[in-house]
Amino acid sequence: MPRPLPRESEGLELQTSAEDTAAVEARDAAYILGTYKRTSFHPRTGKGAKLVDADGKVYWDLLAGIAVNALGYKHPRLVRALKDEAGHVLHVSNLFYQPAQGLLAEKLVALSGFPKVFFCNTGTEATEAAVKFTRLATPGKSRMIALEGGFHGRTMGALALTGNEGYRKPFEPLVGTTVFLPPNDALALNAAVTPDTSAIFLEPIMGEGGIIPLTVEYVAAARAAADRVGASLVFDEIQSGLGRTGHLFVFQELGVTPDLVLLAKPLGGGLPLGAVLVGPKIAALVKAGQHGTTFGGNPVACRLGLETLRVIEEDGLLAKIRETGEWFGKKLKTAKKKSKGAIVDVRGRGLMWGVEIDRDASEIQKRLLQKGFVVGTSRSNVLRLLPPFVIPRPALKAFLAALGEVLAETTAPSKEKNS
Ligand SMILES: Cc1ncc(COP(=O)(O)O)c(C=O)c1O
Repeated sequence: MPRPLPRESEGLELQTSAEDTAAVEARDAAYILGTYKRTSFHPRTGKGAKLVDADGKVYWDLLAGIAVNALGYKHPRLVRALKDEAGHVLHVSNLFYQPAQGLLAEKLVALSGFPKVFFCNTGTEATEAAVKFTRLATPGKSRMIALEGGFHGRTMGALALTGNEGYRKPFEPLVGTTVFLPPNDALALNAAVTPDTSAIFLEPIMGEGGIIPLTVEYVAAARAAADRVGASLVFDEIQSGLGRTGHLFVFQELGVTPDLVLLAKPLGGGLPLGAVLVGPKIAALVKAGQHGTTFGGNPVACRLGLETLRVIEEDGLLAKIRETGEWFGKKLKTAKKKSKGAIVDVRGRGLMWGVEIDRDASEIQKRLLQKGFVVGTSRSNVLRLLPPFVIPRPALKAFLAALGEVLAETTAPSKEKNS
């Protein structure tokens, strides 16, 4: 039976009767291909930065569906836009015109300064498109540079760029040749960028890799190295872009303009939507028929994306994210000092933070969930925090208290003698 909700939970009533969660899990185990090790958590509704599970328990969400739900849940403007757009057509294909796609592209062009946009459905498709587009700029070259621990997606081209052997090895041979380099090592980068290099792919803040921000000096060195040999520079802002750092685009914050910018996650306001912002050099090379997609740039997803960008602008969310991020970063660093070594490092900015700990992050993640906080992990020892842009400070304060408690309740694995 759902528990009665506290007064502050108005609007969080479950819309459907709570189905037996054991039945949901059993059906999943029986019929869904086991590519995910799921956590036993059943979110069913939400409002703002709060989620409610099938039992009516309320959680603060510090993961946002892996950086997707920028405006949280049931944002009234998204709900209205969704109903309105869905009342017309759900899909028309890219053979024909539809207004929402052009309006979103116009907005992205105005905000980014890039001349053209290509729409797809997901992050990995944005990476695939970028691999193809960079080849047009460097015919016959297939050598790519990417970072150790970097992540660009799971399809074959994107996987070829993903610096995680566990994801990559079982599926080799992949596409082209990728040289993986340690992040923020400009000397290694300069040495690796040779005349046969087609493209350099960087996440300006590495997400899956453990929330590792690249320095301004490093991305500037990457721009110079790419220019030296005529290679393309690609920024994957799929996780870090569209406001998460308190800037709409991380390349603008860093002051380095790549040739392509990859976007996805929050772009469709919760529906699948990806995009490549295409710079002038490559925009002039791509011809009709060289790339395409049936679903990419779906009208409903584009309309939600447009509404998301409008809300970010009109509600002044970027300034709020920067202020909250500065405050939260200080609090996390204080927590590190007080943690007696349990917190090893704190990295990030805006509403993108990694808390590296001296113990198994998935165990801490489970305990935080029990206390009513949804967080992610990267690698085995980093808590990944990607809350909705609308998260209030009291939620983050409550999270800090809960984190202190779970670290005090657990211990680091004992170190082997003589190791
Ligand atoms: C930086 C980055 N690139 C690419 C991807 C792949 O995106 P998708 O899962 O939408 O294919 C992700 C997903 O987590 C990502 O974080």
